[in-house]
This record gives sequence, C-alpha cells and structure tokens, in this order.
Amino acid sequence: MPEIQEIWTEKYRPRFLMDVIGQENVVKRLENFVKTRSLPHCLFIGPAGIGKTTCALAIAREMFGDNWHSNFLELNASDERGIETVRVKVKDFARTMPIAGSFKIVYLDEADSLTKDAQHALRRTMENYADTCRFILACNYSNKILPPIQSRCAILKFLPLKENHVMKFLLQIVKGEKLVADEESLKAVLYVAEGDMRKAVNLLQMASFDGKVTRETVYSLASREPEEVKKMLLFAIAGKFKEARAVLLSLLSEHGLAGEDIIKEIHDQTFNLEFDDRQKITLLEKIGEYEFRITEGSNPRIQLESLLAQIALLGVKERMR
Ligand SMILES: Nc1ncnc2c1ncn2[C@@H]1O[C@H](COP(=O)(O)OP(=O)(O)OP(=O)(O)O)[C@@H](O)[C@H]1O
Ligand SMILES: [Mg+2]
Repeated sequence: MPEIQEIWTEKYRPRFLMDVIGQENVVKRLENFVKTRSLPHCLFIGPAGIGKTTCALAIAREMFGDNWHSNFLELNASDERGIETVRVKVKDFARTMPIAGSFKIVYLDEADSLTKDAQHALRRTMENYADTCRFILACNYSNKILPPIQSRCAILKFLPLKENHVMKFLLQIVKGEKLVADEESLKAVLYVAEGDMRKAVNLLQMASFDGKVTRETVYSLASREPEEVKKMLLFAIAGKFKEARAVLLSLLSEHGLAGEDIIKEIHDQTFNLEFDDRQKITLLEKIGEYEFRITEGSNPRIQLESLLAQIALLGVKERMR
C-alpha cells in the first residue's frame, strides 16, 4: 500500500511559542502569561491560517507540560450546533480538577459566528466557570463580538504574515521534505497565499507530489495565472483588443480558469499598472461592477470581453491626453 502522507501543516506546526514565526507582539504577551502562570480570558483576532490555534496549543503545552491534553478543550462555535452544545461541553470539561495548574483552557474557534443571544449565553458560561476555565475566543472580525465579551478579554491581534515569514517556513519544509523547489516556485506560493500560512503550506504540499515544485504547477493548482493576466491587460491598455481577447480565451479554455478567478487577478494586477490614480479608480469601479455581474451569473466571457474593451478605451484616452 502506498504510504499515506502526513499533512504538513500539522507535521510542521510549531510546538512552542518561540517557534511561531512573526506575530512578535502577540507572542511576547503570551510568553508573559506563561512566565507569570496567569492567563486572562483572551480574544484572538485575525484572518485564517496565521497562527491563532497554533499559539493556543503552544500556551497549553507550555503551561501544563505533558498533561496539556487534559487541560485543553477545543470547540468550534459554528459546527457545535449552537451555544447549548458549547455550554454542555464546557460544563463537562470544567467538572474535573485541572491537572498541573490552577485552571484549564477552552479554545473556542469562530466565536464571531455566534448570534447575539448565543454570545450573551457564552458570556454567562465564561462567568460561571471563571474559577476553573480560561477562555480563548478566536475570530476573524472583532466587530462581531459583543462589547461585554471584548471588555472581559485581553485582545490579541494577529497580523497577516509577511512574505519573508512565509518564505522562512516554506524553506524549513523544503529542507525537511528534501524537495526540489526553485525561488520562482516558492515566490509563486507566496503570491497566491497572501499571508495565509496554511494556504501556503497546503499549496506547497499539493504542488510537490513528485518531489519537484514549479511555478507553473503552483499557479495551475491555485487557478491563478498572474503573468498571462498581466499580458492580457497590457495588450488591452495598448489598445490591442484582438490580442487581449485571444489571451482571455486561452485563459478560459486552455488554462481552465473561471471568470471569477480572472477578474480577481485583474483586480490584483490593477495596482501594478502604469495608470494614474484617477484612472485606477475608474478601472476599479468597473472591475467591481463586472465582478458583481459575473458572480450573479452573467456569461463570464462576454463580461470579461466587455471589461477589456473598457480598459482599451481608457488606454486610448490616456494616449490622447
Ligand atoms: N505564525 C506561524 N508560524 C509558523 N507556522 C504557522 C504560523 N501560522 C500558521 N502556521 C502554519 O499554518 C497552520 C495553520 O495555522 P493555525 O491553525 O494556527 O491557523 P489559525 O490562525 O488558527 O487559522 P483559522 O482562523 O483558520 O483557524 C499551522 O499548522 C502551521 O503549520
Ligand atoms: Mg484555527
């Protein structure tokens, strides 16, 4: 039987706070909690895949040593069928005394998916079990968390990871897995991952099925073709509509990109164009409009051709100024 490959995000997940990459401010504060062996309720805020769960696990490991498993409960607010399940599970968990410490940790992921009522219930649960449990709530957007909960928590903001941070982690994995990956291919991973470490690692793992990573594999797996899209845009701006359209058709058919993929890429590339700000604004407005039409179900080819025509017109105007 072929060997089942371990998932790299788990295999390489940092075990201790000092191994977490980036997030210096958060890590410093958490290390302080560990040092003083005191943990307030916490609210971890930040986008996906940048170390929230990783840090919570690391704190538990550092606070409780080998016994950390019995002192750590991980729940997901969105798939635990409502707050009632959370309440029952916490009650069960809080019933036994903490081992190797004076409290236990409840990590509640996606806390921002809870309704207002559910958050009030959560607040009561946090208070009822405050003697035995510290809560770490994780969310993407803090504005969805009620003020009375926020005010009971230490707030820790996780930032999207910088390219050099993601690169550092990728290089560790390349070494660990003895991969053949050139700089171009890793830069492609960085480009696609946009600061999301989980996305970067998963993409690297998918792209390296035969031990070798190339830029082409990365972009095709990610449904991204930045170079081709850039070429298309440059044709359009130069007023070469026919050439721009040919690239568009090949993106849709040969590269198999969806309309949404292409418009997202056009949006990202717009910021690199040699247009002045006023033109970029016009263009972004149009991109927004066409993106809406495509997601609403209009024919993507027709919509994108029309957008290219608009860009070509903008380009022509620019040259006449
Ligand atoms: N700052 C980091 N340093 C090193 N590895 C990281 C970091 N952030 C994420 N990773 C890697 O990405 C994986 C996912 O990270 P983690 O589970 O911490 O994300 P998260 O912030 O909790 O995301 P979500 O909001 O989706 O739950 C980890 O297993 C680890 O391999
Ligand atoms: Mg998480």
